[in-house]
Amino acid sequence: MPLPAITTFDTPLQTPSPYFFGSGIAGQFPEYLNRREFDRCFLVTSPKLLQLIGQPLLKAIDAAAVRCNTVLIDDAERNKDWDTLRTVCEELTARGATRDSVLLAFGGGVIGNVTGLAAALVYRGIRFVHVPTTVTAQTDSTLSNKQAINGAMGKNQFGVYHAPLFIWADADYPAREPVRQQKAGIVEGVKNVFISQPSTDAADEMLDLWRNPERLAELLLWITRSKLDILRQDPTERASALVLEYGHTFGHAIEWLGRGRLLHGEAISIGMCLAADLSHALGHMSAEFRDAHYRILGQRLGTPTTLPGWIATETLYETMLADNKRTRKGLRFLLLRRCGEFADAGGDPLISADRSIVLQVLEESRSRSAEVAVRR
Ligand SMILES: NC(=O)c1ccc[n+]([C@@H]2O[C@H](COP(=O)([O-])OP(=O)(O)OC[C@H]3O[C@@H](n4cnc5c(N)ncnc54)[C@H](O)[C@@H]3O)[C@@H](O)[C@H]2O)c1
Repeated sequence: MPLPAITTFDTPLQTPSPYFFGSGIAGQFPEYLNRREFDRCFLVTSPKLLQLIGQPLLKAIDAAAVRCNTVLIDDAERNKDWDTLRTVCEELTARGATRDSVLLAFGGGVIGNVTGLAAALVYRGIRFVHVPTTVTAQTDSTLSNKQAINGAMGKNQFGVYHAPLFIWADADYPAREPVRQQKAGIVEGVKNVFISQPSTDAADEMLDLWRNPERLAELLLWITRSKLDILRQDPTERASALVLEYGHTFGHAIEWLGRGRLLHGEAISIGMCLAADLSHALGHMSAEFRDAHYRILGQRLGTPTTLPGWIATETLYETMLADNKRTRKGLRFLLLRRCGEFADAGGDPLISADRSIVLQVLEESRSRSAEVAVRR
């Protein structure tokens, strides 16, 4: 029987990594891993994932006689913290990891981020491989080389850039994800269209693919490539790829305050709608494009678009102030003028807004969410 096809490309980052993508490709993993010299590997994952989807990969590793230990962690977002990071690092050294060992991060963004950061810290940096299992991880988090844990004051506050040896994305894994999580992952694909395409048509085409589960692999590849195209223009993510953070100033703070009630993509979905509301309120964005945010995210994809009533607007504002990208210029926002075009202040894509306007936008969104709750 012919082996499942593998599509190969490179991440266009400052330190590029090969990205291998296909469906049902777990059996071919050891062959790619064995192209490197290493003494043993450590598969970092959660007990649930190991049982649910991890066996084909483990069997393939075992069959190839690769020395492999498993390190199990609880991958809930609340555990993306110092305790979990320390546990992984200490367990690795206690169980004999050396500078020649390789970590395999098998899971979603939480496992990928914690494992990537542990790999950067152990012996001042050992190698690791991303084996992303969620839509978000395959199409977004593994494509940035950013590894981080959350701090007491906010998300992703402590981290480093550390590139994986390669990324091994098997579309069979996200196919097993709960639909709510898949949708949250697709939000970043919608964002990629908003920030880089001349019209929203591509978002509609993408959501047409989403209606057909048979085409999930195509959709994943589509979103991944849309992000790589943006990164290719600016591998350091310092200037143009900053645009990938569209909706994230609001979104990260909402996700943080949700303490697990909202998924990352759901918070970003609300964050993009708030950015659209703010841009419209400041006179940059047309009502038509603002409404397109609500139609595509809320009606077509079905992710949340308004600020939940349990988030106090003042608290959200203060949390945004503590955002990890805060600069000496204070709180500033990435705002779109139209699809594919950012509003800017004299060439600077980050725009300041009066606290009172931001709070008003937040209040209006919150009151619309209360209306929706009453109508239901
Ligand atoms: N580094 C970056 O650039 C970057 C970018 C985007 C997101 N992130 C981070 O990623 C995290 C979110 O990651 P995520 O959305 O991938 O989810 P996740 O890692 O939080 O996982 C969510 C849940 O899904 C389960 N799961 C994972 N794969 C599964 C599968 N195939 N089938 C069934 N269940 C599965 C996990 O066990 C977990 O219970 C956040 O912490 C976010 O900050 C980082």
